Amino acid sequence: MSHYLFDNTDARTPSRFSTLESCYDPVSRRQLELAGLGPGLRCLEVGGGSGSLGAWMGDRVGPEGEVTVTDLDPRWAESRPRPPQVRLLRHDIVNDPLPGDGYDVIHARLVLLHLPERLAVLDRLVAALRPGGRLLLEEFDCTWIPLLATPDEESAALFAHVQSALMTRLEKAGADVAWGRRVPGAMIRAGLTEVTATTYAESWQGGGTGVDLHRVNMEQASEGLHDEGVTDAELARFFALLKDPSFVINSYPLISTRGRRAG
Ligand SMILES: C[S@@+](CC[C@H](N)C(=O)[O-])C[C@H]1O[C@@H](n2cnc3c(N)ncnc32)[C@H](O)[C@@H]1O
Repeated sequence: MSHYLFDNTDARTPSRFSTLESCYDPVSRRQLELAGLGPGLRCLEVGGGSGSLGAWMGDRVGPEGEVTVTDLDPRWAESRPRPPQVRLLRHDIVNDPLPGDGYDVIHARLVLLHLPERLAVLDRLVAALRPGGRLLLEEFDCTWIPLLATPDEESAALFAHVQSALMTRLEKAGADVAWGRRVPGAMIRAGLTEVTATTYAESWQGGGTGVDLHRVNMEQASEGLHDEGVTDAELARFFALLKDPSFVINSYPLISTRGRRAG
């Protein structure tokens, strides 16, 4: 059973995906190129969400290649145009048999973080690579988001309170909120070689695109936040703070880790 907290049935999901796309797709595209993505390759994109990266990967591998994009609930990717070499699959990476093997490149962004079975999934992904194939996992370290500017100390405390409640909810749902920093070690233990990691972060200003991720996440998790002691009044002040340009927070750092299957 999936424990994924932000399930895609929620109507706010496209807002989450568009923020992730605009903040992190350029980073992911660069990382995929460094992982060797190119014409004719056979690729797997796990938990593809909106399908933005899957469609781009399809363009990169061209008609001689193939990209399988999976998601527990691919409803948002279904409406996105994609080249014919991109196959979209409703698929649970924890419980379903893998859709194939011998992949040149496997990519997942912000998926394993949510899955209690992440280490078993990592082993399955490694086994699905061809010898010499590359795995690229891009995950947040949600524990490092320094405040860069605040209108006052009360706002800083409010943000910390609501954010901490969200982290607790995620952990109760089985997430590892610091998973990003653990991926290199996990990849080495899983037998991958040439493991290397790059971290990307940017500033998110109140009223801007990136900070909207906090709005979407808190709105979708609001019921659970109440259980962690966050009041409606605090949430209302939190949402107002996210629109205040004098509030600036570091983005979630995206740690992109890639490794190579020996052989
Ligand atoms: C935070 S979103 C990230 C989406 C996309 N990878 C991105 O970075 O924009 C996580 C995605 O993983 C999918 N997901 C969650 N559990 C999954 C599972 N067990 N198997 C496949 N996909 C899963 C969700 O449906 C969702 O689309």
